[in-house]
Amino acid sequence: MSAPALRPSPTVNLETAFLGLRLENPFLLSAAPSTDDLDMARQGLDAGWAGVVLKTTSVEGTPVPLAYPMMSAMEWAGRRLVGMGNIDLISEHHIDAVEERVRILTREFPAKLIAASIMGSRKEDWQSLVWRLRDAGVHLIECSFSCPQGSMGERAGAMVAQSASATEKVAGWVKEAAEHTPVLIKITPQVADVVEIARAVKNGGADGITASNSVPALMGVDIDTFAPIPSLGGLGTYSGFTGPAIKPLTLRTVAEIARHVSIPISGNGGICTWSDAVELFAVGAQNIQICSAVMHHGFRIIDDLKSGLARYMERKGFTSVSDIVGKALPHIVDHDELPRRTLRSRIDESACLRCGVCFVACRDGGHQAIAMREDRLPVVDDERCVGCGLCPLTCPAGCIRMEIIP
Ligand SMILES: Cc1cc2nc3c(=O)[nH]c(=O)nc-3n(C[C@H](O)[C@H](O)[C@H](O)COP(=O)(O)O)c2cc1C
Repeated sequence: MSAPALRPSPTVNLETAFLGLRLENPFLLSAAPSTDDLDMARQGLDAGWAGVVLKTTSVEGTPVPLAYPMMSAMEWAGRRLVGMGNIDLISEHHIDAVEERVRILTREFPAKLIAASIMGSRKEDWQSLVWRLRDAGVHLIECSFSCPQGSMGERAGAMVAQSASATEKVAGWVKEAAEHTPVLIKITPQVADVVEIARAVKNGGADGITASNSVPALMGVDIDTFAPIPSLGGLGTYSGFTGPAIKPLTLRTVAEIARHVSIPISGNGGICTWSDAVELFAVGAQNIQICSAVMHHGFRIIDDLKSGLARYMERKGFTSVSDIVGKALPHIVDHDELPRRTLRSRIDESACLRCGVCFVACRDGGHQAIAMREDRLPVVDDERCVGCGLCPLTCPAGCIRMEIIP
């Protein structure tokens, strides 16, 4: 993050469109702390983000009983913030403050996308939130059907997006009030069948899906006190898990929707770099929302996102972000459609560190196909090796590859 940002490519235009709206680049700040303050939203837009989704708001009088500390981290092998946990709620700023921010930001930043996120409990609340944002000139309304404190699901405490029927019903209320203003439904990845939820969004009449919100998680337990993490005086609760660790979940969620339901997708969850973004485009997202990477590294990551994406597109000969969207989908198949090939592990002896990691992995978690010679050089037994692919993943020297046997 300390290297100076590359200059954007002169030949590639990052401008894109979403639900009939123009985006100067495909990167948006998602509904989160970075968009919960007028000046911070301004700073993000000034830094080069194409737009903001203002943090989820509700009707006046809705209690927002925040509890601190709200943040926690998943650290692993010395890496901080591999994932991030939060027990935040929606914004403490109600619709009166947010509609004013929408008025200000649309006036000050006419070329940017100004979206707001809402959450209600009754039909009247959802619809009045929509009407007030429309009057304020909002460009796009995102509905959080996935905030942990949602109450419109069919089970007490469940999120709306954990029920297909609740999703379809509430999406219908919102779209009825929004009329021509585009509506995105932000879903949770924590459902048995995300395709069923995506279909419900579409049947409810919403224009698109944000996939997806934080993943409900328990971030840890202090093994001395047995208090959950984060601990608030010895008590804790489930967090929303975000950041790099959830990227594979997001890729799967977006791919699964894109493979089965024809609906525009704004991708969100675990994206930190331009190449992460390319992966999410490739499985069907049309633009990218980001939160945790900004909370960790700042608004300035937009420079790397834009310049890295532009250089990649130039190298690949893509002239528009839409050229990348869905490119990986034809390659994603069900397990029974996979080719069945014969593979064997091959070790480059000249680069081997003789550390024995591959030997142990194969002995205790593979097929006991690697033997250790006296001089600690690992040797593959082709009769036992099935080509599972575990050993190259464990090799610190990167000197093992899988060979296809004709
Ligand atoms: C502290 C915090 C607060 C958040 N608040 C909201 C919110 O009010 N509404 C919402 O829809 N998402 C909220 N999110 C979720 C983010 O918008 C985003 O969906 C999630 O963090 C996954 O993206 P990321 O991996 O880029 O962080 C919040 C996330 C964090 C970390």
